[in-house]
Amino acid sequence: MRATDVLRIYGESVKRHLLAVTLVLIGVLAGSVITVVAPLYYKDFFDVLAQNGDIGERIEILRRIILAILALGFVSFIGWRTASFGMQHLASRVVANLRERAFAHLIHHSQRFFTSTFTGTLVQRVNRFANGYDRIADRVVYDIIPIIVQVVGVIWILASIQPVMAVIIVLWTALFLAANYSFARWKLKYDIAGTAQDSKTTGTLADIITNQSAVEAHGSHAFEQSRYGAQVATQMHMTRFRWNLAQSFDSIQALLIVVVEFAVFYVGVGLWAKGEFSIGTFVLVQAYIIRLSDRLWSFSRLIRDVYDSFADAKEMVEIMQAPHEVSNMPDAQTIAHVKGDIRFDHVSFSYNAQTIIDNFTTTIKAGERIALVGPSGAGKSTVVKLLFRFYDPTKGDLLIDGCSIRELSLNSLRQTLSLVPQDPALFHRSLMENIRYGKPEASDEEVLYAARLAHCDEFIDVLPAKYETLVGERGIKLSGGERQRVALARAFLRNAPIIVLDEATSSLDSESERYIQQALGELMKERTTLVIAHRLSTIRSMDRIIVMNKGRIIEDGSHDELLKKKGLYTKLWGLQQGGFIPSAINQ
Ligand SMILES: Nc1ncnc2c1ncn2[C@@H]1O[C@H](COP(=O)(O)OP(=O)(O)O)[C@@H](O)[C@H]1O
Ligand SMILES: [Mg+2]
Repeated sequence: MRATDVLRIYGESVKRHLLAVTLVLIGVLAGSVITVVAPLYYKDFFDVLAQNGDIGERIEILRRIILAILALGFVSFIGWRTASFGMQHLASRVVANLRERAFAHLIHHSQRFFTSTFTGTLVQRVNRFANGYDRIADRVVYDIIPIIVQVVGVIWILASIQPVMAVIIVLWTALFLAANYSFARWKLKYDIAGTAQDSKTTGTLADIITNQSAVEAHGSHAFEQSRYGAQVATQMHMTRFRWNLAQSFDSIQALLIVVVEFAVFYVGVGLWAKGEFSIGTFVLVQAYIIRLSDRLWSFSRLIRDVYDSFADAKEMVEIMQAPHEVSNMPDAQTIAHVKGDIRFDHVSFSYNAQTIIDNFTTTIKAGERIALVGPSGAGKSTVVKLLFRFYDPTKGDLLIDGCSIRELSLNSLRQTLSLVPQDPALFHRSLMENIRYGKPEASDEEVLYAARLAHCDEFIDVLPAKYETLVGERGIKLSGGERQRVALARAFLRNAPIIVLDEATSSLDSESERYIQQALGELMKERTTLVIAHRLSTIRSMDRIIVMNKGRIIEDGSHDELLKKKGLYTKLWGLQQGGFIPSAINQ
């Protein structure tokens, strides 16, 4: 990851606004050149003042010079105005485009990516990346280009008027720039560490806020306060150290300016005595020193700002350059009429080093209804994630209707499947929108029908805003059972050929579950169904039961067959209390 990668990505967004870019460049160049040229007129002005000659003639010349200065001022004004309007035009559009591009790539990253990156950090990265353009563009246009034009222009003009002065200014500028640059480079490691710490502080804050209810339930406010406080304190120390460095450096710069003023005037007096230095030249050199030191003074800050922006942007660009873990193959296929055969062919998988799914092989025929049972942590949900291709298996293959799911387009694969997850999270949108998520083109009637099937209407009808109620972040304003029913309604609406229910009714009370079972029975008809369940009544009614433990299939058969085997299933069955398989048993 290099700075050029950041620039390339910014460049792609800027490129669409060539007219604005051209106007900005013309404006800035005009404004900067005039800053260098105008002092020449001051020089003439003072030289004419200091002459002895016909007063009327001199007044005439002086007036012409003032008019020229006025005209230059006006052109400079137009130049800078054009540049700032152009910059505004660019900033608003480019920042918006960068946000969209960052989002477009980010949203296709895999579950592994999102489970291992803090939400708060990601949100911040998208913003910093987009705003980084604004900061860098401002620095280039309002600082870097003017500095280059002024330094080159000043040295060029002085060289033709008074070479000794040119040499002094060249040496001074070089010293100034070199000192600034090395300082900024040296300090860079502290700046990068500062940015990283800032991300950490934000991440901590986001994590705590997300878990506010746990904080409250455990009365751990003080504990979290000190955790967050520790991050803030670390950041504070790092920031203070960096600011102190910058302050010390500023003092050195101030000294450098005093020294150049002295040198210029000391040498100037010598040259003046020899008649080689006019009053106007004093004015000219003084004007240049003031303008240059004004520009160069903040040069290290400028470098730091540019580096900071690059460092900020880099974090997001890394994400944008990271290939998506799960993506479409170049010639991915779509399947229109899915029968619903599923085959797990020697599938193994691990999140990290530990094997979670171990040589999982089974065939599920179209229309078959399968229960997947096993103790908690056995890998049941992971099997589902592999089927949806949230992750790719490390070994083996999954096939739908004989076609490897890697060869299917992701859209096509997911159209085929319908998932009611273990712990569904909802969007902070209305209930209507949340249910319609199962089938975006569904009519209101279809949505309401699906909601009725999933027994959502029972809790929705009593809400003041009914289907327009907003459910809070992640659906926090609903109970677990209510969220599950919304997820079920989505599945009813989606009507996909393969249905996967991952403990989909675990948070429902027995009564609502009994009602929903009937509806689920309808849903499962003539569809391949994979049910992860711990309620024996549900499991028993399935065609086949696959018993899993530690990522392996250990038993497979109908309820009666499995009971005869007197294995883990019998043990689970024997341990049943109140119709549930206990979620954790000792092996
Ligand atoms: N994103 C993840 N990263 C690392 N390990 C995970 C992740 N998700 C689940 N696991 C681990 O994989 C194992 C199986 O998890 P899971 O499939 O959810 O089990 P089940 O659904 O059978 O209870 C567990 O030991 C769990 O800790
Ligand atoms: Mg699970």
